[in-house]
Amino acid sequence: MSSLTVSDEQVSATKAAKIIQPAWVRALHWTNAVAMVLMIMSGWQIYNASPLFDFRFSSSITLGGWLGGALLWHFAAMWLLMVNGLIYLALGFATGRFRKKLLPITPAGVISDTKAALTLKLAHDDLSKYNNVQKLLYAGIIVVGVVIVLSGLSIWKPVQLQWLTALFGGYDVARYVHFICMSLIVAFLVVHVALAFLVPKSLRAMIIGR
Ligand code: HEM
Repeated sequence: MSSLTVSDEQVSATKAAKIIQPAWVRALHWTNAVAMVLMIMSGWQIYNASPLFDFRFSSSITLGGWLGGALLWHFAAMWLLMVNGLIYLALGFATGRFRKKLLPITPAGVISDTKAALTLKLAHDDLSKYNNVQKLLYAGIIVVGVVIVLSGLSIWKPVQLQWLTALFGGYDVARYVHFICMSLIVAFLVVHVALAFLVPKSLRAMIIGR
């Protein structure tokens, strides 16, 4: 009887050990992905109404149809992005996930993992551990996510949050910061999604956990 109990425990321990991405990470990750895409596409439409540079985004890849519609999408998705992001940050710190999964990042580790990736020698056997390049990109994109929200708040409420707008160096600079963060997120997404499809078992783990 007792041996049966032990083997039951062993079975459940093995099952638990196989969970690579816990449910809360998966739920928050995919909610973030949807919110980000809505924010980016509506943001491009808002940009088109008053471009910072000498180009506009094609209306085929924007959301909202016109400035007013795009602002409604942007401000609706903003709450989803912010609340979801705050829960991710809180749980990331509280559970020790950030410390365990994203640290340490060493320059030597980043250089050797980049070399290994470029020569197609990077191992993907243990999905529960991120390599140094992944750690750097994930930690970096989390910081960019925080900066894009703060710069967005500072251009949304430049009177009420004037201390925040001042922190960015004023309204105009905050707009450029917001645009640069968007560009970094889009660049990250291109590489991130391509790699997810190149290593499908990592995508599977982010969908079903195992
Ligand atoms: C539809 C697009 C996306 C796909 C297919 C995707 C796919 C994935 C996959 C497969 C992983 C696990 C990587 C691994 O185990 O090696 C992952 C992790 C991650 N992704 Fe994405 N992702 C998408 C969108 C995004 C967006 C928009 C962001 C942020 C701007 C993002 C940020 C992250 C971060 C920070 C992690 C690490 C999470 C953690 O371990 O706590 N992803 N993604």
